[in-house]
Amino acid sequence: MEYRGYDSAGVAVLDGGGALTVERKAGRLANLEAALDTAGRSSFAGTAGMGHTRWATHGAPIDRNSHPHRDGSERVAVVHNGIIENFAALRAELEAAGVELTSDTDTETAAHLVARAYAEGDTKGDLPASVRAVCRRLEGAFTLVVTHADEPDLVVAARRSSPLVVGVGDGETFVASDVAAFIEHTRDAIELGQDQLVVISRDGCEVTDFFGEPAQGKPFTVDWDLSAAEKGGHEYFMLKEIEEQPDALANTLRGHFESGRIVLDEQRMSDQDLRDVDKVFVVACGSAYHSGLVAKYAIEHWCRLPVEVELASEFRYRDPVLDRDTLVVAVSQSGETADTLEAVRHAREQKARVLAVCNTNGAQIPRESDAVLYTHAGPEIGVASTKAFLAQIAANYLVGLALAQARGTKYPDEVAREFAELEAMPAAVHKVLSTVDQVRELGRRMSDAKAVLFLGRHVGFPVALEGALKLKELAYMHAEGFAAGELKHGPIALIEEGLPVVVVMPSPKGRAVLHAKLVSNISEIQARGARTIVIAEEGDETVRPFADELVEVPAVPTLLQPLVSTVPLQVLAAEIARSRGYDVDKPRNLAKSVTVE
Ligand code: M6R
Repeated sequence: MEYRGYDSAGVAVLDGGGALTVERKAGRLANLEAALDTAGRSSFAGTAGMGHTRWATHGAPIDRNSHPHRDGSERVAVVHNGIIENFAALRAELEAAGVELTSDTDTETAAHLVARAYAEGDTKGDLPASVRAVCRRLEGAFTLVVTHADEPDLVVAARRSSPLVVGVGDGETFVASDVAAFIEHTRDAIELGQDQLVVISRDGCEVTDFFGEPAQGKPFTVDWDLSAAEKGGHEYFMLKEIEEQPDALANTLRGHFESGRIVLDEQRMSDQDLRDVDKVFVVACGSAYHSGLVAKYAIEHWCRLPVEVELASEFRYRDPVLDRDTLVVAVSQSGETADTLEAVRHAREQKARVLAVCNTNGAQIPRESDAVLYTHAGPEIGVASTKAFLAQIAANYLVGLALAQARGTKYPDEVAREFAELEAMPAAVHKVLSTVDQVRELGRRMSDAKAVLFLGRHVGFPVALEGALKLKELAYMHAEGFAAGELKHGPIALIEEGLPVVVVMPSPKGRAVLHAKLVSNISEIQARGARTIVIAEEGDETVRPFADELVEVPAVPTLLQPLVSTVPLQVLAAEIARSRGYDVDKPRNLAKSVTVE
């Protein structure tokens, strides 16, 4: 689970004889491992236990803020993901009752509250009932895992708006945020629903709601194996995931064009609803947002519908005009990004329909949506999105074609032709991967740059934004993406001798006018001393004289160009980060899934 947070880690083990042993350390898992070695690993033997990797929300990443947290008597251990929004009031209540809190976290309040519930009143001596009672008092999003030293055979876990899956093994049971944690042991899993709690004992597991009423989790079988979640000989997950992009695309497209029609994975809205759509919003964060920016060009072109692409974190705070004929496309690799989830909820409250594009089966965002299209990129472990991003672009295009088909803005043979062009993309991306060595060498030479600018036009503009995001998050380098036409409205002042500028060129044939304008833009920046790195279509001789470095990508239809031109930018960012000595999979301050707003 380290990819979900890596600023501190901890474990708690129940030895069955009434002892609860805890170790916690700030920093990477290696620090915890060293601490366990020092303490003696045998002191951590037991039949039940928990581990946690943290991405700090409340309190700095230091030992005492690391999870698991305990109550004052050190009998209860709790790990927690999410934010307990009413923790200040709960903390004040505990302090007024004389409880001494030893961390700055919201989580610790839960440990004390469970201990108190277990010690007195109706829930006395009943750990599941105690945890339920506490969950009913908590506000915000949380996944909790709780043990009590007096109940060595029990682990209790609960969730609200934050993921929790149970792994059902042979004589052993697991709970985790993600199946990757237990895929080595079992592929049989149960996904917990909203406000559900699971009690794990020697006999297996039992699911209830927060009031103790029996509830049903959703059983499923994980359809990928351990090798998909391992590095497979690569130095970093991200490098493996870049190479997996042709497969990610092929798997995302597979099965979505049947009997001459585009089909979605889940549709809880009628075809008439799709026909009635008169406006589309794409809401997403980070790279997923960039995939939405790409989609806008295709959906507007194919469907003659207005498309607004909105950062999910902004969407619900500006009163967007939504009604039942608005389609909100929520794009999220994890399906659990808090900002996107809240945008989905806001849209549905306003009666808009929501279609989720998601890489994680059964995650919260698809569960709460009216229709779902899954990207089948496989597990993405590297924090920087690569194969999921390309798969999102492909899936968004399928959404556009489904809309065009429903609205009749494209004839069936045109839809079939567009789909066939998409189907040719895995091979094109495979070809781009053969330029990796050239780009890596370029990256090594760029590793000491102070800043890098990225320029593009049309669908190349979101690619420029994505290239800049990759460089910022991986190499901690100042990077900005611009629409090339905007340069002379301000950003050109940034150009100075030797500044690397990456330019994503459109096709000289497909977009001749734009191509000519971008050539002018490049010559303007070159004249001012910029060092130009140009991503251009094979055989684009016009641009060659203006490129200090030229990276060629295969010629593909204009709208599909982001699928090939993004790949060199991913490799470039990864290589610059490696040259600077950074951990490509775990950039500082980040986590893969951002489950807090
Ligand atoms: O899981 P999501 O697709 O909702 O995540 C959205 C962003 O947090 C994510 O794309 C992020 O920007 C990546 N680190 C970018 O590489």
